[in-house]
Amino acid sequence: MSYPFEVYASTDTLIDRTLALIVEEFETAVRERDRFTIALSGGNTPKPLYRKLAQQSLPWEKCHVFWGDERFVPADHPDSNERMARETWLDHVDIPAANIHPLVTAYDTPEQAAQTNETTLKDFFKSAEWPVFDFVLLGMGDDGHTASLFPGTAALQVCDRWVTVGMKEDQPRLTLTIPAINHAHCVAFLIAGANKNPVLQTIFNDKKTDTPYPSQFIQPQGKFIWLLDALAGKDLVPG
Ligand code: 6PG
Repeated sequence: MSYPFEVYASTDTLIDRTLALIVEEFETAVRERDRFTIALSGGNTPKPLYRKLAQQSLPWEKCHVFWGDERFVPADHPDSNERMARETWLDHVDIPAANIHPLVTAYDTPEQAAQTNETTLKDFFKSAEWPVFDFVLLGMGDDGHTASLFPGTAALQVCDRWVTVGMKEDQPRLTLTIPAINHAHCVAFLIAGANKNPVLQTIFNDKKTDTPYPSQFIQPQGKFIWLLDALAGKDLVPG
């Protein structure tokens, strides 16, 4: 399996490249579909990217923001991916409140939250068989997880749902499923840091592993690219 990837000398150039890709896909989607739908990743890597998005002059009224995953915490919790994206980006642009579609966690159980958020997504995407996001931004953990699809968890087997419950150890999360991600027009991994290199070497250099990493199940039908900084991308063999 060949994985299209690009390696950038610094985090700044990596973030600038990712920003340019998002803007390019934003403009294409608005031209072709009069809207742009993007599902965000959480964690630390995308924060400088979101801060740069906050400085862009784009038709934000055409932009609809979703999340690829969310911790099962209140929206104002320090660990909330929604809170992070609002603080770094969404609170600083004129995007209509109705265009922000968080994975809502205010339900009694994670499963109830997953089902309700899936219904909300289906309403937005007019109950298509699968959601077709214009852009899905993904990170990767040093265990090869992406979104909240963690190694050895049941969420990796869920192929008939759009949203499911992911488990990080004993912490429940909400996550898009693998097929829900794979139907996107464009999927980009944004990965930085030396701690991600060992997993990337296994993935990219076809080193044998007992079971594939969750990130390896991301094989979209549309555009696909891994955007890496020099530390994460060290010694990777082009596919
Ligand atoms: C989350 C993310 C998760 C993240 C990776 C990488 O909710 O934490 O969606 O999948 O992208 O854990 O996180 P870092 O960017 O902080 O390394």
